[in-house]
Amino acid sequence: MKIIRCEESDYADIERLEKKYISTPWSEQDLKDALRGGNGYALFKAVKDGITVGYGGVQVIADEGNITNVAVDESVRRQGVGSAIVEAITSHCRDNGARKIYLEVCVTNNSAIKLYEKHGFETVYARKNYYKEGDAAVMSCEVLCSKSVKA
Ligand SMILES: CC(C)(COP(=O)(O)OP(=O)(O)OC[C@H]1O[C@@H](n2cnc3c(N)ncnc32)[C@H](O)[C@@H]1OP(=O)(O)O)[C@@H](O)C(=O)NCCC(=O)NCCS
Repeated sequence: MKIIRCEESDYADIERLEKKYISTPWSEQDLKDALRGGNGYALFKAVKDGITVGYGGVQVIADEGNITNVAVDESVRRQGVGSAIVEAITSHCRDNGARKIYLEVCVTNNSAIKLYEKHGFETVYARKNYYKEGDAAVMSCEVLCSKSVKA
């Protein structure tokens, strides 16, 4: 499995995963802009046997990174794909001068919260009714600490 920085030509693969697994998918224009790397965005795809099986995105502005979405195809979950994507994102943040990374995740999304906790993220506060499914947990991680993955 390889993690590769996305380009605009990855639109169809990323859109397929985004529509399937993200409750509020981005518009075509926003996703294409992000794939092009505008406004500090970077997306990464996980490719296994030539097939895109996951992706994740981040926006780095000044010394802060904000993870947008991470999604992995159901057929390959619990095999470390999500972890590899989060690691690629944190390396990208580190390389681009971010000192802290933030993200929002629905408080009911146990698998995603556990994934981020494994990579050193902690819940810092909650945003009430942020999603139609419930509150958001705002999680953050110091970039310098993000290399240490708990066993
Ligand atoms: C969250 C998600 C990206 C995890 O992807 P994944 O490839 O299965 O993650 P990994 O295999 O790398 O798992 C890493 C760790 O996350 C945690 N984790 C992942 N899935 C879990 C689950 N169903 N239950 C509990 N913990 C889980 C575990 O700590 C796991 O480590 P372990 O396998 O050593 O116990 C995936 O479930 C997904 O795509 N969900 C739908 C989209 C989504 O909700 N995205 C997050 C919001 S942006």
